[in-house]
Amino acid sequence: MLYPNKVKAMLNINKKGLMQELRRTFRLDWTGIHGAPHWARVRHCGLMLSNLSGADLLVVELFAFLHDSHRQNDFRDPQHGGRAADYALSLNGSYFLLNRLQMDKLHYAISAHSDGEVHDDVTIQTCWDADRLDLWRVGKTPDPKYLSHFGRQLIEPAKFAHPFSL
Ligand SMILES: [Fe+2]
Repeated sequence: MLYPNKVKAMLNINKKGLMQELRRTFRLDWTGIHGAPHWARVRHCGLMLSNLSGADLLVVELFAFLHDSHRQNDFRDPQHGGRAADYALSLNGSYFLLNRLQMDKLHYAISAHSDGEVHDDVTIQTCWDADRLDLWRVGKTPDPKYLSHFGRQLIEPAKFAHPFSL
């Protein structure tokens, strides 16, 4: 997908360096259900949603790359959000530069992303919408009650982002 120049300019992340760091530290299958293809779909969906919701693009993009980065298994791992949130904090200033408010939002969005909450902050909810819309990949239909107004509009389109859903 082509993003407007304004959007590109706001995505201020050393992606090559960050991907190398994630390749080095990620313990699971890189192409598995919580690996890089999932992060790419969450990113794609998150950036589309951000254009509708007005969410912070940098926070949403970093959420996509980092939220599942510290899973220890592909099944039940309730602490993975907290580990990934602290990891994100440790990377701030190395591969990206978030201010305090942005970092607080990213930390909370990552730490609570699998707790089944909804949030009235558009950036946090956009992160969660993007992740939840990729539930199609594991054969689950995203539940509208956990999505924002904008996220609900993408339930059906998101189905076709995953090859096994076609
Ligand atoms: Fe995820």
